[in-house]
Amino acid sequence: MTREQGELVDDRTGFSEATRLNPGVAHNARVWNYWLGGKDHYPADREVGERVFGMFPNIVHVARADRAFLGRVVSHLAGQAGVRQFLDVGTGLPTVDNTHEVAQRLAPESRIVYVDNDPLVLVHARALLTSTPEGATDYIDADARDTAKILREAARTLDLDRPVAVMLLGILNFILDTDEALAIVRGLMAAVPSGSYLVLTHPTLELGGEANVEAMRFWNEHATPPITARSGEEIARFFDGLDILDPGLVSCSLWRPDLPEIGGLPTRISQYGALARKP
Ligand SMILES: C[S@@+](CC[C@H](N)C(=O)[O-])C[C@H]1O[C@@H](n2cnc3c(N)ncnc32)[C@H](O)[C@@H]1O
Repeated sequence: MTREQGELVDDRTGFSEATRLNPGVAHNARVWNYWLGGKDHYPADREVGERVFGMFPNIVHVARADRAFLGRVVSHLAGQAGVRQFLDVGTGLPTVDNTHEVAQRLAPESRIVYVDNDPLVLVHARALLTSTPEGATDYIDADARDTAKILREAARTLDLDRPVAVMLLGILNFILDTDEALAIVRGLMAAVPSGSYLVLTHPTLELGGEANVEAMRFWNEHATPPITARSGEEIARFFDGLDILDPGLVSCSLWRPDLPEIGGLPTRISQYGALARKP
């Protein structure tokens, strides 16, 4: 932290303490909650949420498809793959089917650690700490860049000598520098053993078109934190050294979709998703 014009400013994020919980400035966690149909947002969040929706109506499908992907991937990991430990970085505000609820429904002994840096997520974290008696949940208030703090505090709940599913859903897009984003993934994956997993979603303009470009530009002028999209090629680099499982890096709505009995494949949306295993 350094002091600029009387205000404490976080050297890593560039945000002042005052903007940490500032109802007057739209924050990602709260706007995301608005698009998901939640109740935890302020007028400034709703205004930006509506403006972005007006430019790029698919944003609502992106948010919902991302959460549905989380449900399918965590079900696969806790079910077929037998994973019992989850580190969910960039958790978001509690909503329906949070990671621990999905995992513990299948395996009540699952242990889940949540990490976010949004102060309102911290305020609501109690809703994430409703573990089954057999399992455990914990919440860490930390910036994703501070992997040392995340790993140190996660070790209170997770055994880092046993496989962990590291989840980075819709968060690396807030780490604008690709090398810094890569360092986060590598730092976390280096600390977990063979048989661990990386789950990731990330927005891409490759699937979103011009309206998506305009909506992101608007976001960066009116809301916080600033966001970036990446190409499939750039996102694939996050998986270097890992084995990406079928069907690979795809629109997350098309990742092992639950196919309705009648009707075709879900629509492709501008958010890539993938699951990979550490060999
Ligand atoms: C788009 S939401 C995604 C929430 C959830 N993972 C999901 O997929 O539904 C991104 C979340 O990442 C959090 N976030 C953004 N930048 C962060 C950072 N540098 N460190 C920790 N959390 C961050 C935001 O507060 C927000 O809750």
